[in-house]
Amino acid sequence: MKNKETVFVCNNCGNEFSKWMGQCAGCGEWNSLKEVSNKFGGNKKNKGESRLARTSGKIDVKNLGKIKPTLDPSLENGGLNTSVFSTGITEFDRVLGKGIVQGSAVLFAGEPGIGKSTLLTQLIGKIGGLYVAGEESAEQIGLRVKRLGLNANNFDILGTNSIEELEEFLDRTQNVYKIAVVDSIQVMASENASGVIGSVGQIKESAFRLIQLAKKKGIAIFIVGHVTKDGDIAGPKLLEHMVDTVLYFEGEKNGDLRILRTTKNRFGATDEVGVFKMEEKGLREIKSEEINLIDNQENKIGSAITVIMEGTRPMMLEIQALVVESFAPMPKRIFAGIDYNRGQLLVAIAQKSLGIPLYKYDVFISVTGGIKIEETAADLAVLGAMWSSYKNLPLNVKSPSASPLSPLTKGEDKKLPVYVGEVSLLGEVKKVRSWEKRQKEAENMGRKLVEIRNVKELKGL
Ligand code: TYD
Ligand code: MG
Repeated sequence: MKNKETVFVCNNCGNEFSKWMGQCAGCGEWNSLKEVSNKFGGNKKNKGESRLARTSGKIDVKNLGKIKPTLDPSLENGGLNTSVFSTGITEFDRVLGKGIVQGSAVLFAGEPGIGKSTLLTQLIGKIGGLYVAGEESAEQIGLRVKRLGLNANNFDILGTNSIEELEEFLDRTQNVYKIAVVDSIQVMASENASGVIGSVGQIKESAFRLIQLAKKKGIAIFIVGHVTKDGDIAGPKLLEHMVDTVLYFEGEKNGDLRILRTTKNRFGATDEVGVFKMEEKGLREIKSEEINLIDNQENKIGSAITVIMEGTRPMMLEIQALVVESFAPMPKRIFAGIDYNRGQLLVAIAQKSLGIPLYKYDVFISVTGGIKIEETAADLAVLGAMWSSYKNLPLNVKSPSASPLSPLTKGEDKKLPVYVGEVSLLGEVKKVRSWEKRQKEAENMGRKLVEIRNVKELKGL
């Protein structure tokens, strides 16, 4: 097949297509395909030759039984010394499983400015390593190291955009580094691929070579990848299937909370998260009791408190809704922090089960702290916030017309409510996993989980 000069890459799932489509056939996302350059093999020397150059003339079959127990037998030394070592940062270790696996390739993705360089600088500050700086000068990194109060002796800075230069450098420095950070993949390029820096061809070739380097040299390589919202540059999604571990660094740039999440890990589970705060002197690890994102004063109109699980840890946060009469022919649905399709579904449930005439209302939903909710446990809170905004009353207060003998006037029930539960299409509220942990977290904050069986009961609260 003739290699096309451009391909269309989905920003959401990274699938490639030869022609443009309005909806990605891979993941179903709309308007996510972007045209990007796809030139390979521009270098004459390598034309016609397989990109997978043989490393030696010998073809060797290994019997698995004869290989000593290792994590990765493709390592140069047979993986005999393959080890896992700590990052020196507890929250980072937690996300990786136990720590960094020797010779692994880790994609470290996140939006520009979120703190990727900062955290990886702190990592090298702790355990020492090579910083391949494609974006910033050694002086700039030096300033950051100083600002963060780290030991400058732990840093070797290689300022280059060339994969070949990095390969040559690592060939000359045998077994010196345990880790290397490449900041970022979008500015690395190889002579073996043509196309401008940042094109799909360059990114894929560079990543492929970095992964080979990691295996061959036994160096754990952290590959920084910027996630761009409008996606002019091919994003890290392209690389997810190539690397061993995929980490996403998230948060709201205006806020200071950052969450480190793993979406793929060949060496461990993917259900733990690390929580950090961006401060004057870099990223600080946050303990469980510090990660509540609510002010505990009162119940506000259009607000509902929920407890989500981040990994194994509960985290309280606030869902806000604004339900207002619409002047547009198609009412607006704008959701920040919850999945768009889930949001649409909850709007439909609110219309059917709570009887809100949402076909003529705009709905805006947001989640505090810039957190993206990935579980359905917050469904009930989203519906509660919508109901409160629609009725223009805080959630636990009965409407003025209701009986003055509200149960809320009695002792125990004065505790402010927290809404946790998955909501079915029929409006039934289902209990979710880790109920007790969430309950305890709510209690710690002087609140309690509301127990209802159907969203209709929100009307009576
Ligand atoms: P950076 O690590 O450069 O982001 P990325 O590599 O993901 O693009 O972080 C950039 C932001 O972090 C910048 O706006 C300043 C802020 N910051 C702090 O608040 N404190 C610090 O100690 C550092 C180093 C950065
Ligand atoms: Mg950076």
